[in-house]
Amino acid sequence: MTAPPPLDLGVLVSGTGSNLQAILDAVATGALSARVKIVISNRPGVPALERARAAGVPALCIPHQGFPNREAFDRALVAALREAEVSWVVLAGFMRLLTPEILDAYPGRIINIHPALLPSFPGLEAARQALEYGVKITGCTVHFVDRGVDSGKIIAQRAVAVEPRDVLATLSARIHRAEHELFVSVLRDIAAGQITPFSTEA
Ligand code: GRF
Repeated sequence: MTAPPPLDLGVLVSGTGSNLQAILDAVATGALSARVKIVISNRPGVPALERARAAGVPALCIPHQGFPNREAFDRALVAALREAEVSWVVLAGFMRLLTPEILDAYPGRIINIHPALLPSFPGLEAARQALEYGVKITGCTVHFVDRGVDSGKIIAQRAVAVEPRDVLATLSARIHRAEHELFVSVLRDIAAGQITPFSTEA
């Protein structure tokens, strides 16, 4: 049997890009059969863009403020993703909600990573929410993206213990390490055809 072709990924970022780095590293070592065709940030000057460039991946900044509404911004994203010929879109710390402009352009092929065990602690500052709530187990979730905030169908999760001495920095670092493994593992499953595009049709 011939191996499936590598995944052609577009990665959307807004900041540090440590999850992007985990993906780039997995591609570089051959652990993940994928090509990162483009990295797009809505914020200029973020480390994630530098990480992409250092890996030889085209890195583009499309500032969202330059558009009259979310739809117009998403149309610009779609144009860039299509130009780069990506087949899946990966949100790796991308801090914008998506509209049908992009959701319908890549139906069931957009995934996100969130630093909590959804449906607990959606939205911003999930690790802080978990710490303040006092849960003893939190973690991270990879899910398909829909119009809501961290509400799409869950693909995979990994649990992370909250230690008694944890402060936000230590807990966040532990969740991040779990994220890097989980994200790559899900992408490997997509590349292998074991996870298929999400369909809302029965
Ligand atoms: C991660 O915790 C991810 O779950 C959330 O944003 C953060 C991005 O971190 N969506 P990084 O930019 O990948 O380091």
